[in-house]
Amino acid sequence: MLVLLFSCKPEKEPRVLNLPKTDLSTADLIPKPVSLKATYSAFPLDQFTAIRTTPDSLGFPEVGKFLAEKIKQITQLQVPVNTEFPEQESVVYIKQSDSLSKLNKESYGLRINKDSIILNAASAEAAFRGVQTLRQLLPLKANDSIIDYPVWPIASGALNDTPFFEYRGAMLDVARHFFTVEDVKKYIDLLAYYKYNVLHLHLTDDQGWRIEIKSWPKLTEIGGETEVGNEPGGFYTQEDYKAIVAYAAQHHMTIVPEVDMPGHTNAASVAYPFLNGNGKTPKIYRGTQVGFSTFDTRKDTVYSFIDDVVREISAITPGPYFHIGGDESHVTQKDDYIYFVNKVEQIVQKYDKKMIGWDEVATADIDTTSIAQFWQSQKNAELAVAKNLKVIMSPAKKAYLDMKYDLKSEYGLNWAGYVPVNTAYVWKPEAYENIPREHILGIEAPLWSETISTISELEYLAFPRAIGYAELNWSQPEQRDWENYKVRLGNQAPFLELMEVNYYPSPLIDWKTQNKAIKE
Ligand code: ACM
Repeated sequence: MLVLLFSCKPEKEPRVLNLPKTDLSTADLIPKPVSLKATYSAFPLDQFTAIRTTPDSLGFPEVGKFLAEKIKQITQLQVPVNTEFPEQESVVYIKQSDSLSKLNKESYGLRINKDSIILNAASAEAAFRGVQTLRQLLPLKANDSIIDYPVWPIASGALNDTPFFEYRGAMLDVARHFFTVEDVKKYIDLLAYYKYNVLHLHLTDDQGWRIEIKSWPKLTEIGGETEVGNEPGGFYTQEDYKAIVAYAAQHHMTIVPEVDMPGHTNAASVAYPFLNGNGKTPKIYRGTQVGFSTFDTRKDTVYSFIDDVVREISAITPGPYFHIGGDESHVTQKDDYIYFVNKVEQIVQKYDKKMIGWDEVATADIDTTSIAQFWQSQKNAELAVAKNLKVIMSPAKKAYLDMKYDLKSEYGLNWAGYVPVNTAYVWKPEAYENIPREHILGIEAPLWSETISTISELEYLAFPRAIGYAELNWSQPEQRDWENYKVRLGNQAPFLELMEVNYYPSPLIDWKTQNKAIKE
């Protein structure tokens, strides 16, 4: 019977394709991989291509389907995933590798040959990172001169890759201005392409409260209606938030929720005045000043409230972190602040999360499992290291996406100075004095939204700078080079345009754009 089946299969002539010469070593990969070797031929992505993955429950088939979907968006090809494929001649294999998993959970190796691509990965997460590399190698246009149907030749060779930092984050302030679930999903799409693995959402501030808390409904009934200026605000229902978390998980990204306290809490105190500790009657606030609000840190009912908030958010947050803010509590007494942070840390731990706080939290007596986020005070970051805490690097002068690029920037602030595209790239997060590499989880690039209210304005501030942080986070220090990066960045223009990203066309970069307005 088997023999019969085989004999029924039509004989096919092997294809002879006249594939172009390529050079993988000049590919515009961002972030740059650890090592790469070109073999100067190509893999023909075409109607005869299929994807095959490790058929297990560890998430590999989903990574294969993700790749197929992205290939379809660019080529219209329907690449089958894990189906029987007698027709298919060129195969992309996505496989789990035990030897790589011993190295790092995100390590992968890519071998691109004339008739196969083999992506060996430590985990599905690693495979997902490798798939981003493959996407960056996929030409946006077919080469029609090879044969009488379209072929997208992928440069052949071998590369090995592993991240430098484990925590590669961006933060979005949805409190000063609200951004919809669709906006956040688009940001995730773009960040994932550059191998980010964390999105931190700043969910609450003086001007608004953006996450439904079922036990305290007025937080969003009142706090969801306002934002900076006269715009209408908004909030995520818990279902919305779960949709963001699930979308992030499909992109192997972790959501870090932040409820900022004891300062930056005016919106919560307007909804529930018993929370307020600044001695005044809380009033709706639509301005951009900071440092005037505080919770009452000595009331038990305030901690019962916080317990409910942390419990409800933690229950729908699979990631390991809960961010408590802790910044700019200028009207909280020092001893009250320390008492507060210590109490809230216990609540966070009760719900099995690790606490993150802005660098001021290092002044409290916090546990070594908690994490300090360096944004303004190197002294606080050093204090965190002295207390044996891990540190997230977000120094405003280098890593704040809401700083203006230059004098001409349409949006943004400049209290930490201007951050042009080169300043955002040319610094060494691992080389700060007294903040040793072993203490650093990675860079997170915060985007505060006082001056932006639409996805297009968000994109203007985030891109292209967010792409530079991706390289500082992932690539080895010796791989980072401004002159070389500049060229690769300019070559991102076709992708950014395809994604309809309103990036800032910095004059420091020679953009390989199709867009005439930018060229001129
Ligand atoms: C901050 O920028 N207030 C953390």
